[in-house]
Amino acid sequence: MRTGRWLRAQTARRVRLGALAALAALAVAACAPNAPQTTLDPKGPNAQTISNLIDPVFWVAGIVFVLVEGMAIIFVIKYRDRGDNSPEPVQIHGNSRLEVGWTLIPAAILVAVAIPTIATIFKLSNKPANPINVTVTAHQWWWEYNYPDLGVVTANELHMPVNQPLEIKLVGADVIHSFWVPALAGKTDVVPGQNNHMSMTGSTPGTFLGQCTEFCGLSHANMRLKAFVQSPDEFKAWVEGQRLAATAPPGGSPAEAGLALFAAKGCSGCHTVEGVSAGKVGPNLTHLQTRTSFAGSMFPMNPDKLSAWLQNPPGVKPGSKMPNLNLSGDEISKLVAYLETLK
Ligand code: CUA
Repeated sequence: MRTGRWLRAQTARRVRLGALAALAALAVAACAPNAPQTTLDPKGPNAQTISNLIDPVFWVAGIVFVLVEGMAIIFVIKYRDRGDNSPEPVQIHGNSRLEVGWTLIPAAILVAVAIPTIATIFKLSNKPANPINVTVTAHQWWWEYNYPDLGVVTANELHMPVNQPLEIKLVGADVIHSFWVPALAGKTDVVPGQNNHMSMTGSTPGTFLGQCTEFCGLSHANMRLKAFVQSPDEFKAWVEGQRLAATAPPGGSPAEAGLALFAAKGCSGCHTVEGVSAGKVGPNLTHLQTRTSFAGSMFPMNPDKLSAWLQNPPGVKPGSKMPNLNLSGDEISKLVAYLETLK
């Protein structure tokens, strides 16, 4: 006969197995051999300062977690109702030594964590010496970068020379966003009407991924960015390239027909191409082909992806402000030919 006790033991075993499986799934989900957006592998002094705070706080919080949860589990098991009418455990309500202890110890731990935290906040808000000024404007759903002292405007892909800080002014064009390149610096909210500041330095050349980290609508997840930390010479060459006027497509080419469509279809009303148009709604396209990605760094820069994009922007990027212009295949191929000349 299967008794009630047998059934209870069976259920408890199932619950234990289920809990173990859930824990294992959680642990496995946290593993990533290739995590390009990690804050735990800092590549610049600002990110390093944050990492130096994360490590001790993690250990303090970890030890507290294990002690508190461990005791909770022990007590749940030890003092559970065994269904055998055993008496209630001894109650300790009113034990002032215990109560003072578990009030003072957490207070002391919080103070110990607060001191380095506040010091880090002040350290990160220091303005760097000899910075490059960049205004980062957050749009639904892409990033605009304006280097006012260098005369460069670009989108989604941020360039910076190694070991030289960027002093960033964050401007919100519509709703609240948050700018984050985990390997280089912490998150800072971009709030319309309130220009926040942050600084960021890359100490290792490389490409670092980032993204908007404040929910900002349908394509929040598609509001990505790349930061290129370059040697001073590479950065200088990039700046010089960005300052050139747009190249004119050769006469009689499909690209020239594309340029005509660029005006006729209204693209020029939203996009700037230096010397051609002055639209401010979408990204500046003057040197589009110097970028490796487009549409909030969502797609790699190639003719196929550009064609798919022109065919139906909101279809490939939910909520895209760029409308579906119902272009024909012929118009799309001419426009893409033109976009391909914007080097
Ligand atoms: Cu912008 Cu989320």
